[in-house]
Amino acid sequence: MLGRKVPSVTFRTRVRDEAVGGSNPFRWQDVSSDDYFAGKRVVLFSLPGAFTPTCSTYQLPDFEKLAAEFRAEGIDEIYCISVNDAFVMNAWGKSQSLENVKLIPDGSGEFTRKMGMLVAKDNLGFGMRSWRYGAVINNGVVEQWFEEEGYSDNCDSDPYGVSSPQNILDALKSQKIAA
Ligand code: BEZ
Repeated sequence: MLGRKVPSVTFRTRVRDEAVGGSNPFRWQDVSSDDYFAGKRVVLFSLPGAFTPTCSTYQLPDFEKLAAEFRAEGIDEIYCISVNDAFVMNAWGKSQSLENVKLIPDGSGEFTRKMGMLVAKDNLGFGMRSWRYGAVINNGVVEQWFEEEGYSDNCDSDPYGVSSPQNILDALKSQKIAA
């Protein structure tokens, strides 16, 4: 994975636009991989589903809280991606009052599949979702990779630790010390 360029896909996002009018003024906006990744050093983390307990209670809020520390390590953006559509991701972001982490809806799973991280979660009634991983991505190229162990379909556990914000931040800090 290290040194690989992230897949070029188009994400179908929903953005607020008062010009739409009415009580639900949102419209579609296509956002490309280049829009998210070109010319920036970012942390991307991927998880099995919006609103799921570990993701909502620990991973996403902890990334949000630690955003300033990531910035101090030279990270321009923190992105959370999940195989969920834009409506679900927007509702999750709103419920989490996010200010720092940006959510990327990979509703079709195309990005996740091309990253080699798509797994079946039919055992949970989820269908195809993402295996948990994190990455530091520099100008669209994977610089550091944090994949949870045991990549598999219908995994009966949900390993979480390698892709935690604390672990990724520790890795960034220790590399700075070593440099
Ligand atoms: C969790 O984040 O706790 C979770 C993720 C996927 C399935 C069930 C729970």
